Amino acid sequence: MQRVSLLSSRHLEAACVASALLAAPCAVGAQQTVVLANGSQLNGRLANITDTTWLFRMAGVELKLALDSIASFVAFQPVGLRLRDGTVLAAAVLPAGDSLNLVAVDGPPRRAALRDLAAVGWPNRDLNVGAIVALSLVLPEAVKTVLRSWGPGRYDAYFNQDGVSDPVLIPPAYGLRDVALETYTGEGPVSYWNNYVAVTQMHGQGSFSDPRLGIDIVAQPDRVTPKLPVLRDYQLTLETPAPPPGSFDPVAAERGRTVFNGPARCATCHIPPTVTDAGFTLHAPSETGMDPVRATRGANGGYRTTPLRGAWQRAPYFHDGHAATLAAVVDHYAGVLGLSLTAQQKTDLVEYLKSL
Ligand code: HEC
Repeated sequence: MQRVSLLSSRHLEAACVASALLAAPCAVGAQQTVVLANGSQLNGRLANITDTTWLFRMAGVELKLALDSIASFVAFQPVGLRLRDGTVLAAAVLPAGDSLNLVAVDGPPRRAALRDLAAVGWPNRDLNVGAIVALSLVLPEAVKTVLRSWGPGRYDAYFNQDGVSDPVLIPPAYGLRDVALETYTGEGPVSYWNNYVAVTQMHGQGSFSDPRLGIDIVAQPDRVTPKLPVLRDYQLTLETPAPPPGSFDPVAAERGRTVFNGPARCATCHIPPTVTDAGFTLHAPSETGMDPVRATRGANGGYRTTPLRGAWQRAPYFHDGHAATLAAVVDHYAGVLGLSLTAQQKTDLVEYLKSL
């Protein structure tokens, strides 16, 4: 029997991360199905549970999972690692010096240097979280139907609170340094969001309270709150990926920068260097022509200006993904803000956005 370790971390503690995902995750012997990011499905049995690990047996392989009570996106990623060459690998990970041994669950073992991994902080556009949660044996069929309707890369973290289904794109975890507010609707900084997800979504054993949303969960002992600072510090180390060489025209991008700061009025909200005014103000949905549903479900009724770091890498755009391309973003604003931009100014603006 092969034994591998998945995502070991110094800051892990058991809280049955999978409780939101699986039917009876904390019971030894429970039969489980896991859907991997590449679409393959694994069936197995929970073999052992300790305070920090979760031993899972599937297809003759024994997977030892380190359970992280609070890493939301991070916890999802080990089963779907994206390498820089674009491969998405379903794998277990063994740290080995400056490289990782990737033990592909459905293929031969391979070794990848850390620099080849683009997994951490990658805005997840492939993983179908709703479909995974819908594997639960305990959720009502009507709820599963809603979960299955979301599709890859989208999630509604308020659905199990207010019963409304209006999924948003899973945002990137990189480039958060100096960005004051993390959520689309500006409820709070990164630790607010980690706390919300850990307690209300992943059912980690911890406390979360936000009177604006009418949520007040108190857990004793609170195993989430003490982990929030280290998780935040880790996330703040995740750099925005640079645009690939040759992926934009630098001369046009430089012209586009003057359009962005000038006639297109983008910089009135997307203020450099963070390219956002988050922390100073939020915007009514009508200001930018956004669908109001998500804003009205949040605590503040408005949208935070999205920092544009790494925009080249994560189409579609806006919280609900209604702009398929950066050109569609520019057309959207040209209409909503009544901009009179020439075709040349629009393409220059797109080149600039691709350069961020
Ligand atoms: C009135 C303030 C305001 C102005 C002006 C503005 N934006 Fe935005 N921008 C926002 C807000 C708020 C969001 C978040 C909207 C959402 O997702 O619901 C946003 C989101 C975006 C996004 C989506 C990013 C992502 O990852 O989803 C892009 C791209 C963008 N803006 C580019 C621009 C460009 C280009 C201009 C100028 C033509 C511009 N913005 C003008 C406030 C503004």
